[in-house]
Amino acid sequence: MGKPIHRPILMIPGPTEVLPEVLSSMSMPLYPHYGKEWGEIYEETVKFAGQVFNTNGTVIIFPGPGSAAIEMGISNLIAPGEKIIVISNGFFGERMVEIARHVGCRVVEVEAEYGEVVHPQNIEELLKMHKDVKGLAVVHNETSTGVLNPIKMYGKIAKEYNLFYIVDAISSYGATEIQVDDWGIDFCVGYAGKALSSVPGVSPVAISPEAFRYIEKRAWKPSSWFLDLSVWKYYMDEWKTIGHPYPTTVPTHSIVALREALKIALTEGLENRYRRHEVMASAFRKAIKALKLEVVATEEHASPTVTAVKCAENTSSRIARTMLEKFGIMISGGLGKLTGKSFRIGHMGLTATPRYLVYTISALANTLSNLGYTVDQEKALEEFYKVIEV
Ligand SMILES: Cc1ncc(COP(=O)(O)O)c(C=O)c1O
Repeated sequence: MGKPIHRPILMIPGPTEVLPEVLSSMSMPLYPHYGKEWGEIYEETVKFAGQVFNTNGTVIIFPGPGSAAIEMGISNLIAPGEKIIVISNGFFGERMVEIARHVGCRVVEVEAEYGEVVHPQNIEELLKMHKDVKGLAVVHNETSTGVLNPIKMYGKIAKEYNLFYIVDAISSYGATEIQVDDWGIDFCVGYAGKALSSVPGVSPVAISPEAFRYIEKRAWKPSSWFLDLSVWKYYMDEWKTIGHPYPTTVPTHSIVALREALKIALTEGLENRYRRHEVMASAFRKAIKALKLEVVATEEHASPTVTAVKCAENTSSRIARTMLEKFGIMISGGLGKLTGKSFRIGHMGLTATPRYLVYTISALANTLSNLGYTVDQEKALEEFYKVIEV
């Protein structure tokens, strides 16, 4: 059989399948990045994004990748030479450590094994040893391991010790609960191209009033002009009336797409979305286990949007290749310490539905069987249906 002629289905953990309504919202002539009409579109996008963050604080639609938005958060709230605790239990936690070091912070890293979470007590012990810590940073949904970190619990510690709390919610935004205000988050990074099923290019960001009060008073500036929130604040205040509340040109098509995706998410209802992602993820893990495979995350902390699956050393690329070439399904290999030892499947937004998951489970079972594993496809699908039918 030849290679599939269609582009593959994206069962990777982002970018994910894009909603058809989102794609059609982009098929119109370009809006300029300022003016009354555009200003209203931008403000509506900000309003919807704030509802998904559950915040009454400031929201910006950051025109760039998630990592740059994380750099913005760390580099504005923690001065070079100051200390930040970074929770690290996977590739993206390690990247946060790297970003914080890159901007000159002294990083106190607190680690857990891949698949597990950091116990809050470990953070408190570090805070007793390091009295001069200014911030706490964590990845909500660790996309490399499929672990959902308990950010509400960590937020209590950040509040108690008066720390700036920075959260990477890139692969959880719009799929699971995030209460930016109630959980004391000062800087929270969301994403367009993952659980919202929009296109990459912009990252919604929520910023607390405390963060802005600090930025107004601080006696230093981050070295990057573009990432400096005081620059952004200036344009938010001074250029809002001309529909340009940001310092540079922004990708208007990506913002229009995000607005459409947020509207669809809010119409579905956040509680319904949380439930759908939880049920689909749990059903998918049951199917994976029925195929006699092991999930990287412990069940208690398993992610609602991505499942990382252990596999024999160096089989992940064969599994991914067969899935792609035979079935037109794209999945991802392992990341960081799990490279070559795992593969990852995203179930977020549009793909957190039986329509995509049943085909993925069936194709995976066939792929494993062709690679010599003894698998029971029917049992895997039965386990999946048992969970979704409850
Ligand atoms: C949790 C998490 N953080 C950060 C990133 C990096 O995002 P970007 O590639 O947009 O910088 C990703 C991308 O997959 C992610 O899943």
